[in-house]
Amino acid sequence: MMFVTVYVACEAVLARISLVVQVSPSIDELAKLQDVVNDVVRSNLPIHLFSLDRSEAEELYGASIYDSAPVPSDISQLGLVYIAGLEFNAVTPDAAIAARTGAVGSIVIKKTKYNSKKRGWLDLTVSVAQSNAAPDLAQAVADVAQLPTQETIAALNPTPAEKPVSAGHATPTAAAAAASSSGGSQSASAPAGKAAPAPAAPTEVLPAAAAGSAADKEQVVNPWDVEAGEDGVDYDKLIRDFGCSAITPDLINTVESITKRRAHRFLRRGLFFSHRDLGLLLERYVRGEKFYLYTGRGPSSESLHMGHLIPFQFTQYLQEAFDVPLVIQLTDDEKFLWKDLELEECYRLGKENAKDIIACGFKENKTFIFSDLDYYGHMYRNILSIQKAVTHNQVKGIFGFTGSDCIGKQAFPATQAAPSFPSTFPVHFKGQTNLLCLIPQAIDQDPYFRMTRDVAPKLKFEKPALIHSKFFPALQGHKTKMSASQANSAIYVTDTAASIKKKINKFAFSGGGATEELQREHGANTEVDVAFQYLTFFLEDDKELEEIRVDYSSGAMLTGEVKARLIAVVQGLVADHQEARKLATDETVERFMAIRELDF
Ligand code: TRP
Repeated sequence: MMFVTVYVACEAVLARISLVVQVSPSIDELAKLQDVVNDVVRSNLPIHLFSLDRSEAEELYGASIYDSAPVPSDISQLGLVYIAGLEFNAVTPDAAIAARTGAVGSIVIKKTKYNSKKRGWLDLTVSVAQSNAAPDLAQAVADVAQLPTQETIAALNPTPAEKPVSAGHATPTAAAAAASSSGGSQSASAPAGKAAPAPAAPTEVLPAAAAGSAADKEQVVNPWDVEAGEDGVDYDKLIRDFGCSAITPDLINTVESITKRRAHRFLRRGLFFSHRDLGLLLERYVRGEKFYLYTGRGPSSESLHMGHLIPFQFTQYLQEAFDVPLVIQLTDDEKFLWKDLELEECYRLGKENAKDIIACGFKENKTFIFSDLDYYGHMYRNILSIQKAVTHNQVKGIFGFTGSDCIGKQAFPATQAAPSFPSTFPVHFKGQTNLLCLIPQAIDQDPYFRMTRDVAPKLKFEKPALIHSKFFPALQGHKTKMSASQANSAIYVTDTAASIKKKINKFAFSGGGATEELQREHGANTEVDVAFQYLTFFLEDDKELEEIRVDYSSGAMLTGEVKARLIAVVQGLVADHQEARKLATDETVERFMAIRELDF
């Protein structure tokens, strides 16, 4: 149960819903809430506005006509907004009010936000899909002619703040159309003391979905879009917004003590920084339960850059350290749906990329690589169960799909979700359906697996555990995104030693002093220096890295020297990769992609 008050600013593109809940509502509940609100909009109910002496209004209806959109105390004549059966609320008399609820167009809940000041509250940012015409005040005035009688008003159901709404049942408390005359968005809230216990439904927090509005300069991270603020992506904020957990030194210690080896440098140095239920998975593993790894790649380009390899290098470490089976999904279907590419080209790119993936050192007898195009039939039973358990509104809420996105896109999340469940691989796992699953991924993939974790209990499956990486910075620095179409923004696994040298020297953003003198005097900012950041990912030796950090920060070391060290390290890694890739032939790919029992 939760209390919901919806205020729609009819002049603004953004409106805000506040609701009182103790736990974050599930995607399901939010989708239903969205339906409820949109039903009110679709019903195009008349919105009445009449004015009443303030003291009289308070005497008649009590304080419940007020919410957090305050009516200044010097205003003695209140505007009262009334929607039959739904809403009864005080506004300033000059508030711009739409004549009918339909004026706002459809409403999409875009984002939920934990409001730390009002603990236990969630602010939902909703966006109004249509651009709204200015409210028809003339119509509103005309409607006042049909004012409800005092008796009708007195007989109203409990006022918004007192009327509980279960998002599971379709009765909105209020969908009012009260806008301040400034036309901005409003936040409406009910006293926290009136909060009812929220549903205990365990759930993932709803993500920041598609791009925010212009008014909303927050960072956007989803599978198709990464927009960072001035200082790059704020990963702590991402952890809070997404509702995942930071990887703590304790957790890294646990990994080291279970695997009896040093944690991978990607883990030690915070490139993998966040997780869901990793601690739980490890606990169960220690008690004797088995798990498998699942990761994937959307094949959209022929050659990969260093950033593309990171999840695979990390997954390879996990496979070796835990000695576990692994499935790797090539989402040729996804790239066909999202990019301007021929289907067969996506399929071909998948098989080419498989060679680079294999070159990361996976164990053939424990690894299954599959193309969605090839393996779909085997997954279809699970895909169907997932599709049946997720509504259009849910994927719309999670991924920001709109009515003009093709239906292939809307169906795809179930395809990426299915490999999270062991019964998708009956041959590989020899019919064992009780394996747990751990999914290494870049953080932008989290929305897929939030959805997956939400449906898992409905299907009586285990929720997969997740481990997230940060984005790998472009040579030009944290503020820019590494892009496959911009050859100079990244180092490719196909680059020659000479071009690696040239790219790093020429393009790697420097946090050092502009001249040798300035560098000697002030030292470098290693936080933004790309050469140093890359070293943290690629230089294995902790001691050497720390020496470079100290010397470069103090000015004892120059940018050119740091870059020279990085060039040598990257040339070595790329040469090793190229050697290993040569060994991965079409036949090797076929063997990895064969449907067969895995060893575990
Ligand atoms: N969607 C991912 C991409 O575009 C590919 C992918 C599929 C994936 N399944 C995955 C990535 C599981 C990480 C984990 O690259």
